[in-house]
Amino acid sequence: MQNLNGKRVVITGGSQGLGLAMVRALAACGAKVIAIGRDRANLSSAEQAGAAVIAGDATDATLMNKVVRKEAPDVLILNAGARLPIKPIDQQNWDEFSTIWNTDVKAGLVGIQAALHTPMKRGGRVLVMSSGAAMVLAAPFIAPESLSLSGGYIGAKRMLWFMAHSANAVSRERDLGIHFQVLVPMQLIPGTTLGHQVAAACAEIEGVGIEEYVMRRYGSILCPAQVGEQVADLLGDRRYMSGVAYGFRSESDILPLDVTYSPRSTAIPGTR
Ligand SMILES: NC(=O)c1ccc[n+]([C@@H]2O[C@H](COP(=O)([O-])OP(=O)(O)OC[C@H]3O[C@@H](n4cnc5c(N)ncnc54)[C@H](OP(=O)(O)O)[C@@H]3O)[C@@H](O)[C@H]2O)c1
Repeated sequence: MQNLNGKRVVITGGSQGLGLAMVRALAACGAKVIAIGRDRANLSSAEQAGAAVIAGDATDATLMNKVVRKEAPDVLILNAGARLPIKPIDQQNWDEFSTIWNTDVKAGLVGIQAALHTPMKRGGRVLVMSSGAAMVLAAPFIAPESLSLSGGYIGAKRMLWFMAHSANAVSRERDLGIHFQVLVPMQLIPGTTLGHQVAAACAEIEGVGIEEYVMRRYGSILCPAQVGEQVADLLGDRRYMSGVAYGFRSESDILPLDVTYSPRSTAIPGTR
């Protein structure tokens, strides 16, 4: 195990939901946590958990460059995410469809660039928040139809996953020693505002309650606190230092996803 005591961790979207759960879990391990969110009043829970707070927008490059330079984090967690308009594709205008791109992907790009340009210290880790929805068609239990109200969300979250790989390529090329990893919650988490909003819309369509909908779909409920604790485990356990993507499910340990990826391999799987 690695000791997280005294490690400096910056978390975007740290005021509520999964970000706040990570703030709590990491602060409980002795990390020096800095939480970023746009609304100063909403950051009080993070403060109560022992975090320093910064009110600001994670898509703002000037802010993120300054934070990475000044706070010199050992770990940067790019978690900030927008709420999605839950409508069929023919009822979303471009602004609605691109909501997640304009927040999550933009904040991901800005955060990754801040980490690479500053650069963060050697051995630094950047965790990029994706979603199990990004595994649609790759994981048999996620049918595309079940995500039909998601608009641009799925592609945006898959894009963030690819961006972590691209950032690793730059880090290796420049010998920066910064490692980019992807967090993949593999269940809808109704205990956050975003998760509750999506679960409520889906439950209404199926004519059931939120808990029944989530239980039918996943067989269990994943709580924000469990994600927070698993992220602390991911950062504290040497077994998870080198892989690129890791999944979280309620009734399982951390699931290694892109761990067998080798930067030197040019072979397309199945062609040899
Ligand atoms: N809940 C789920 O089921 C689930 C599943 C898979 C992945 N995820 C991902 O996990 C992340 C967190 O989701 P959540 O469910 O915890 O959502 P949430 O409860 O809605 O919280 C979102 C957080 O992001 C912050 N935020 C939004 N835009 C921001 C910006 N431009 N700059 C800085 N902070 C910003 C919010 O604070 P302010 O509004 O005050 O800025 C808030 O702290 C998201 O990336 C989401 O896509 C969630």
